[in-house]
Amino acid sequence: RKRIVVLISGRGSNMAALVDAAKAPDYPGEVVAVLSDKPDAAGLVFAAEAGIETAAFPRKAYGSKAEHEAAFVAAIDHAQPDLVCLAGFMRVLSADFVTRYAGRLINIHPSLLPKFPGLDTHARAIEAGETRHGCTVHFVTKEVDAGPVVAQAPVPVEPDDTPETLASRVLMEEHKLYPKAVATVLRNLSRNVIR
Ligand code: GAR
Repeated sequence: RKRIVVLISGRGSNMAALVDAAKAPDYPGEVVAVLSDKPDAAGLVFAAEAGIETAAFPRKAYGSKAEHEAAFVAAIDHAQPDLVCLAGFMRVLSADFVTRYAGRLINIHPSLLPKFPGLDTHARAIEAGETRHGCTVHFVTKEVDAGPVVAQAPVPVEPDDTPETLASRVLMEEHKLYPKAVATVLRNLSRNVIR
């Protein structure tokens, strides 16, 4: 089975969805490490309880963005993953980082890209009067939230939606879409671990 490293910053519900999906005997990958920039990320507790290797690298422990990223690179490469998945990882990665893992780094974003890159996507979708919103899994490139799309799932925007109700409807789709999209990417990857 192919090896997945997941980067999180918080709740980690998408990471948990990947861990749960990977329990199926025919799933093409397994989550071998969960890394965070936030030592108190709730998702780290879930991962540790699932017997998965975890580590946290807080930004303030490093003198520069480059040194901070180098800590992640060392941990990722140590885990020898086939695929690196961002799941609510709330830092913009450098061009060097993105290039290092080109074609092996994907993200889930809570909008139908190219609509609403960046933050506060649900509030912005409501504000814009959208009747259709959703989530996107995409390859990460150096332009934020703009890499090639792997898969998308739409959800309706209801007239009485708040950012919170819309976010929870989108999140339910994220939890289905990410495991499916990761499986698709893994099945299409050659068996070269990152070194
Ligand atoms: C998810 O909705 C994810 O799409 C979004 O943050 C949430 C993380 O939830 N990601 C971004 O906004 C990336 N810029 P989770 O920690 O429970 O998976």
